Amino acid sequence: MLQFNFLLVLALLITACDTGDAMRESSKNNPTIHARVIAADNGCMGCHAVGVTVIGPAWKLVAKHYKNEPDSKALLINSIKKGGKGNWNNITGGQSMPAHENRMSDEDIAIVVDYILAL
Ligand code: HEC
Repeated sequence: MLQFNFLLVLALLITACDTGDAMRESSKNNPTIHARVIAADNGCMGCHAVGVTVIGPAWKLVAKHYKNEPDSKALLINSIKKGGKGNWNNITGGQSMPAHENRMSDEDIAIVVDYILAL
C-alpha cells in the first residue's frame, strides 16, 4: 500500500511537471502570461499577489516603490536571489523572503522582475 501511494504521488508529480512545461512553452509568445507561469511554477504566488499583500508585499506596491529607483531591476533580482528582509516591515510585519538563487535561473528571475516593475 505504501509503495502504491508512493507511485501515485510520483505519477502525479510527473504529470504536474509536464503540465507546467507545456504551459511554459505555450505562453512564450505572451510576455505577461509567460512571467505569470514562471512565478506560479516557482512558488512566488504562495506569498505574493499582484494587488494585495499576502505574506510578501503586493507586487503593485513593489512596482510603485521602485519606479524612480535607477537600479531597480538589478536590486530586485538581487533580493530574489539572496532573499529579502527588512525592506517591507511596515507592510508585512517583519516577514522575510527565502533565497531563490539555487532553484531558479537568472533568466527566469529577470523575466519576473520585468513583469513586476511594469505593473
Ligand atoms: C515564503 C514567502 C515568499 C516567497 C515564496 C516569495 N516571496 Fe517575495 N517577498 C516575501 C516577503 C516577506 C518580502 C518582503 C521582504 C522584506 O521586507 O525585505 C518579499 C519581497 C519581494 C520583493 C521586493 C524585494 C525588495 O527588495 O524590496 C519582490 C520583487 C519579490 N518579493 C518577488 C518575489 C518573487 C519573484 C518570488 C518567486 C520567485 C517571491 N518573491 C517569492 C515573501 C516571499
